[in-house]
Amino acid sequence: MEKQKFYITTPIYYPSDKLHIGHTYCTVATDAMARYKRLTGCDVLFLTGTDEHGQKIEDKAKAAGKTPKEFLDNIVEGPQGILDLWKLMNISNDRFIRTTDDYHVAAIQKIFRKMYDNGDIYKGKYVGKYCKPCESFWTESQLKDGCCPDCGRPCVDAEEEAYFFRMSKYADRLMKHIEEHPEFIQPESRKNEMVNNFLKPGLQDLCVSRTSFSWGIPVDFDPGHVVYVWLDALTNYITFCGYDPDGNHDEHYKKFWPADVHLIGKDIIRFHTIYWPIFLMALGEPLPKQVFGHPWLLVGDGKMSKSLGNVIYADDLVRLFGVDAVRYYVLHEMPFANDGVLSYELICERINSDLANVLGNLVNRTIAMTKKYFGGIVPAPTAPEALDDELKAVALGLPAAVEKKMDTLHVADAIDEVFALLRRSNKYIDETMPWALAKDMDANGGRLAHVMYNLLETTRICGVLLTPF
Ligand code: ME8
Ligand code: MG
Repeated sequence: MEKQKFYITTPIYYPSDKLHIGHTYCTVATDAMARYKRLTGCDVLFLTGTDEHGQKIEDKAKAAGKTPKEFLDNIVEGPQGILDLWKLMNISNDRFIRTTDDYHVAAIQKIFRKMYDNGDIYKGKYVGKYCKPCESFWTESQLKDGCCPDCGRPCVDAEEEAYFFRMSKYADRLMKHIEEHPEFIQPESRKNEMVNNFLKPGLQDLCVSRTSFSWGIPVDFDPGHVVYVWLDALTNYITFCGYDPDGNHDEHYKKFWPADVHLIGKDIIRFHTIYWPIFLMALGEPLPKQVFGHPWLLVGDGKMSKSLGNVIYADDLVRLFGVDAVRYYVLHEMPFANDGVLSYELICERINSDLANVLGNLVNRTIAMTKKYFGGIVPAPTAPEALDDELKAVALGLPAAVEKKMDTLHVADAIDEVFALLRRSNKYIDETMPWALAKDMDANGGRLAHVMYNLLETTRICGVLLTPF
């Protein structure tokens, strides 16, 4: 039987600064999904990468006294760079795309030309407001108190000759798609936000080229223009696996596209659920099955920011707590739709309560008693009792319970299911009191063997189901 395919992506991050624990959370969550799907027998493609063009990168490189490419190579591939970070976090990505990779640059140029030839892109003049940190153009009416509606930072006036994409042409089709595919934008609350705030008021044509800076992919038929960084970035999801605008796609593309999930933060939902599907419609390609906008990881009671000096980095946490504990914490503390909170104190608490008292305690007691009573050999189960039934039922039902949660990206809830069995197993030790049975091996040895077998088996099942996390 052919394996089911599963294609999942993270955002491609801006390598303008060192990535922090928020970016790390998203990549770890995607990794957990990818590992889980591999565990269930899927043929998985897990893609992550970096979004390397745009004015912000150009400015940062200049400030560092480097060319953009030198600056980027150091942040991406240099010591303690992004590749090192993913290695440290045990990220199992199959591919890593950099938007400065040759194949991507060539594909974007072809895509831009195809959209132009088809009349989806036209040349005009841009007058409006621009948010540099977000690389976003806005109209006056979209600003909030004169600032960028996404990040709240001040915008600057912008006017330039530019290419535009006819967004409005596809708005009805997109609206229909969203209505007919309730799973397309998740969680539900994000979908309502997109429909009410962006689609219903009507889509404006999108400015898709720039002339005010040069660090981007040149429009090959109009020198001086570079492709808008979001058109460049979003298409990474198809260029890396051999999408070809002329239709001569790679086998890889035919096999894996459309993506099953784009896992991204709620800050970039608009780009992924409005621009991206419309670009795909213009290219005549199928839409991703789902875009999941995960909530925010907060530090203390607010957002991490350089100016507040409260940015937390994964490598610092790993040095203190170890990689598995950090992965466990971010995955477990991030609820499905609400923001999660991170602090050193909270991580300590979680490690003590969950990893030490529940998981560690069970594994340690089970292994120690198996050694003590049976020389470390798994004993045969020959003396079941009614008391075992409930534990057995929870254990046998666990794979399906985890699957149900994971299939809807309720990662924290999936972990809770496993921990429910770990807790039940600890209670089973208290109920069966192996140390009491061991006092009379002639009379109770068979029963003790069965009890230890059950504990080893639930530990094994939990161990396997925890591997994705
Ligand atoms: O937006 N909590 O890149 P970016 C949780 N290059 N997640 C967080 C977070 C936090 N505090 N802070 C950041 C870009 N993230 C574009 C993407 S995709 C075609 C282009 C995560 O470096 C979250 O997933 O600003 C968010 O969407 C992403 O980092 C933004 O990363
Ligand atoms: Mg950002």
